[in-house]
Amino acid sequence: MKEEILDKLKENPGQFVSGEVLSDTLGVSRTAIWKHMKDLKEEGYIIESISKKGYRLLAVPDILNEHEIKQGLKTSFIGQRVDYLKTVDSTNRYAKEIALNGCEDGTIVAADSQTSGRGRLGREWVSADRKGIWMSVVLRPTIPPEEVQLITLAASVAVVTAIYNTTGLKTGIKWPNDIILDGKKVCGILTEMSCEMERVNFLIVGIGINVSHERQDFSGDLRKAATSIKIGLEEHIDSSEIDWSSCLNRSNLIKEILIELEKVYFNLKNGLTKDIIGQWKKYSVTLGKQVKIIARGSEYIGTAIDITEDGKLVLILPDGERHEVMSGEVSVRGLLGYS
Ligand code: BTN
Repeated sequence: MKEEILDKLKENPGQFVSGEVLSDTLGVSRTAIWKHMKDLKEEGYIIESISKKGYRLLAVPDILNEHEIKQGLKTSFIGQRVDYLKTVDSTNRYAKEIALNGCEDGTIVAADSQTSGRGRLGREWVSADRKGIWMSVVLRPTIPPEEVQLITLAASVAVVTAIYNTTGLKTGIKWPNDIILDGKKVCGILTEMSCEMERVNFLIVGIGINVSHERQDFSGDLRKAATSIKIGLEEHIDSSEIDWSSCLNRSNLIKEILIELEKVYFNLKNGLTKDIIGQWKKYSVTLGKQVKIIARGSEYIGTAIDITEDGKLVLILPDGERHEVMSGEVSVRGLLGYS
């Protein structure tokens, strides 16, 4: 009922809707309406109540919940189930648990904060309360394990497109799937899988995006390497032209990511891998650069010239030899700047 009341207020932007109309159309008492309004206000919705006039929604702040994510979501399967959590250890860990219990393909898990966010290569992922998007998507593709890398590349293309569509900011992709804004990392993607020899059981695509962090929110070494959408907007777009509440709205950005993710996922299912690779290359900040590869126990330098059809990075080593790198356990450093 609370959601239905909210929808009625959203249908009448800037207008008062009387308690009587709400109670008649929704078939509940005026006291019940009043109680739900109180709950909505406590959740953060800015609602003005004036006796004899009724209720008016003044602003929808950046609130994350199942209703906000699902409202107006135009996807056919990704995000049809949304598990929203105020706080969780890691959305990837939680998603794995529900995947093992058989949740549907396309289920998403989103949290306001994570207490043990996980990054690639066993690193920690700092996930401050309500400052970013901390979410995981459960996918059940019918592909062999060696093609999983393509889904991760496709997810980075989806995130770059979604950030551009919602904010106008142009980001790039550092192989395999760091999203870079002004030479710093704004988003990381951690794909984990459960598979057998020839078949993937499920994938968890974990996406972490720094949204409304200020520079001082990043401590120590992170300050040099990390940025947020807010910082990017401040640098690139005339402040007076920014609709801050819409650009920094996490539910909007999540919706856009889910739409784009579904598009690239369908393309992959229909064998349009060339299209994904083509888009990935267009956004790449790695190709053409000298990079240092840090793999288990060894380090080497090469020039990144391409990625293969299954997502490996192609390097030319100093002796002219061609070498392909799998993303699994490697760290890539740009020799000139972060990318
Ligand atoms: C990286 O190291 O670049 C990957 C970071 C991935 C972070 C996201 S936040 C949501 C999801 N849950 C996690 O524990 N990690 C991923």
